[in-house]
Parts: sequence; structure tokens; C-alpha cells
Amino acid sequence: MSEADLVIRRARLLTLAPLKDERPRVGVAAGDVGAIGNGWVASRDGVIVATGRDDAWERLELTPNAPIVDAAGAVVMPGFVDPHTHLCYAGHRWDEFVTRRSGADYLAVLERGGGIHATVRATREASDEALLGNLRARLQNAAALGTTTIEVKSGYGLEPEEELRQLRLIARARASAPIDVSATYLALHALPKQRSEDRKAFVQSAVKAVATVASEGLAEAVDAFVERGVFEVDDVRPLAKAAREAGLAMTLHADQLNDVGATEFAARTKMRSADHVANASADGLRALARAAIPAVLLPGSAFFVGYAAPDARRFLAAEVPIAIATDHNPGTSPLVGMPAAIALAVTLCGLTPHEAIVASTINAAHALGRGERTGALVKGRRADLVILATDDERELAYGLGAPLIVATYAAGKLVGALQRRVDDEQLARGAGDDLE
Ligand code: NIG
Ligand code: FE
Repeated sequence: MSEADLVIRRARLLTLAPLKDERPRVGVAAGDVGAIGNGWVASRDGVIVATGRDDAWERLELTPNAPIVDAAGAVVMPGFVDPHTHLCYAGHRWDEFVTRRSGADYLAVLERGGGIHATVRATREASDEALLGNLRARLQNAAALGTTTIEVKSGYGLEPEEELRQLRLIARARASAPIDVSATYLALHALPKQRSEDRKAFVQSAVKAVATVASEGLAEAVDAFVERGVFEVDDVRPLAKAAREAGLAMTLHADQLNDVGATEFAARTKMRSADHVANASADGLRALARAAIPAVLLPGSAFFVGYAAPDARRFLAAEVPIAIATDHNPGTSPLVGMPAAIALAVTLCGLTPHEAIVASTINAAHALGRGERTGALVKGRRADLVILATDDERELAYGLGAPLIVATYAAGKLVGALQRRVDDEQLARGAGDDLE
């Protein structure tokens, strides 16, 4: 057997092991977490070398001082992949949050120059150091909450030179990040107010920036917000062409609030994923299923904006692979961490807890073009994994807000850990001592 420099044993191991060939999971595979009782996983130099059950790990050769972690029956599973976030921003939108709760419409706020535009102003004004500090803190929080791979979009610069600034900061944060970061150029997020007379020219400037993004290696994908009154499918055509020519993947904020045909367009043009899709048409779903392209469901934004979350049963019945993400951003989805996204995906979208686990690991990895690299505890993949504070993974969906992530390992390195585990008995004893 191979030499290992990390072993985690006595686990309820969710391997998410591929059933046949590796592709986004649909059908029965969409709810199969590949559980092994009394399981173990071993890695070397950040890559999984073996998994198994019972005491077979004792036959592994170990490097000197290799930690052998006793999970004591707790769940050990792949680290989460968060395939859609807007982490690069400054400021908050408390006021908008409150006005929207009392009825203000998201797109009307945007039209009046608030919403995305408010964050654009705050982000442009922030120093590089401040933005970088925000980004690093948010990546650290993600790691502490079990995420080992995360997508980060630009999108609060709007003008190409401001977008490039954000992408360069994301690249700096990525270089020292504890987890794997996949950057996306969100080229069309909102039309700057001073460009409202010249929409085509603005789209053209964004299209032109794609070549710079690609030549500097600043992003893996290009994204656009396709929505009534924002950008249209026709605006995206030249962008998608430029992305393809530059060797970048493409993804869309598709049919979030209205069906504008964006999901079908994303599928027909073989984009990496179609995201939001709360109002996608039946044709859109059929096209996604045919092309085996993941729909990334973002229940956080449905929850905070107050629209009907996408019905996961509709997608599953149509055999569309489902991924879920936080969509963390200061406007529609201020939620932090994948466990909360999982709980909302179960309560609002109708996924089962096991389907939500598939959607937040292996299928989310596919949504980032990493379906063969991470998202499953299988030999040859990155040792990206989490230890939960429970022996039943369904608690991820049930214990909303509970600190369930005991430890996060990214490429075999401990990158997040619960500082102090206080069990009830200890707590009772401690309180008793104090009271005496
Ligand atoms: O994914 N709706 C478009 N983009 C983001 C929200 C951006 C914002 O409101 O700041 C989203 O929901
Ligand atoms: Fe988004």
C-alpha cells in the first residue's frame, strides 16, 4: 500500500464515489452519497491515496509523524464546493435590505441607481488593501465553514478597468488562499448610469476586456446577468464568442426573476453552468438535461429577496444535474457558508439532505469544471474533506446555524477548525463548578 502523511479513521465516510463514468449526477446517483461505516481515508501530499473500512489502514506505510485522526464515528465527507459567489466587494446594503423587506422591488431599486450600483460605488472607493482584507477574511470564513473550493466573481467594477482591478485582487488573494479559488469575470452585471445612452458600446468594451482577462490568466470563466431590464441574451452572444475564442468557460445569471430564455441559451451554447434558474422554462430544463449541464440553485437569494425558490423536484424529474451555492453578495444573498445554503436548498427547493450533499460537493465541482479533481473521497483526487460534529449528515440540513464543521482539510492541510468543542457534559460540569 502507498505511504500516507494523513489518516482519518473511524468515520462515517461519505465517499460520493463515482458510480460509473464521472459526470454530473442525475437520477438515483443524485442522492447517493456512497456511505461507508467505520471508514477511513488516507492522503499523501494533499492527494487521496486510499480509502477503506475497519482496520485495513493499519497496513498503510506512514510518513514519520503522520497524524492519525480519530473521527470517533463522526461524518467525514468531501469539502464543499461553492460554485457561485461575489466575495470581492466593500460596504453593506442594510438600508436596501430593510426597504426590500417592506416591499421595495429588487429591480426597481437597481433601476433607481441603488442595489448593485451602491456596491459598485463603495467598491470603487475602497483601497486595494481594504478589498484584499475583505476577500481574505471571507475566504477564511468559507474554509472554517467547510468549503474547500470556491468560485469568486468580479462584477462590482462594471467598467472594464475597474473589473480588471478586482480580478487582479482576486488573483492576489487566490495566491495565498487556504482553499482552491476559481475566478470569474462577471463582465455584464449592470449598465453604468453614465453609459445608459450607449449600451452597445458598453457591451463592446466588456467583450474587448475578455482577451486581457485571458492573457493575464485572471479568470477561468465569464459571466453575465441576463434579466429583464438588465442585459439580454443578444448582449451575451458576442461575449460568449469572445470567451470561447479566448479559451474561457462561460456561465450565466439566468432567469433569476423572469424567464428571458437565458437558461436555454446557456445550454444550447454549452456553457459551464446555468445559475439561479428560478424562472427557467421547461424548454430550458430539457436543454440543460440534454447537454448534462448543471443548474446552480441559489436558495439564499430567493430567501433574502423573497421570491419563490427554484423547485428542485422539477429539475430532478427532468434529469437536470443540480448544484447549489451560497451566491454570497451584499445585496441578494448575504448568507455565509455552504451549510446554510444546504439547509435552505432542502427547506426551500425541496432537495433531500443527501441530494443537497451531492449538489454541494461533486455536482458543484462539475459546475466549476473540477468534476474529476475534487468533490469525492476517491483515490487520486485532492484530499479536500471535512469532519462534522455529528454522526448523521442529515443534520447539515436540519441544524441550521449549528457549528457543525469540526475541521476542514484542503489538499490535506488543516485550514479550519472549530476552536473549542464544548460537549453538554463539560458545559454542565463547568457551570456547576462556577455556581458552587
Ligand atoms: O446573484 N442578480 C444579480 N447578481 C447578484 C446580486 C448582486 C447584488 O445585488 O449586488 C445575484 O443575485
Ligand atoms: Fe450571483
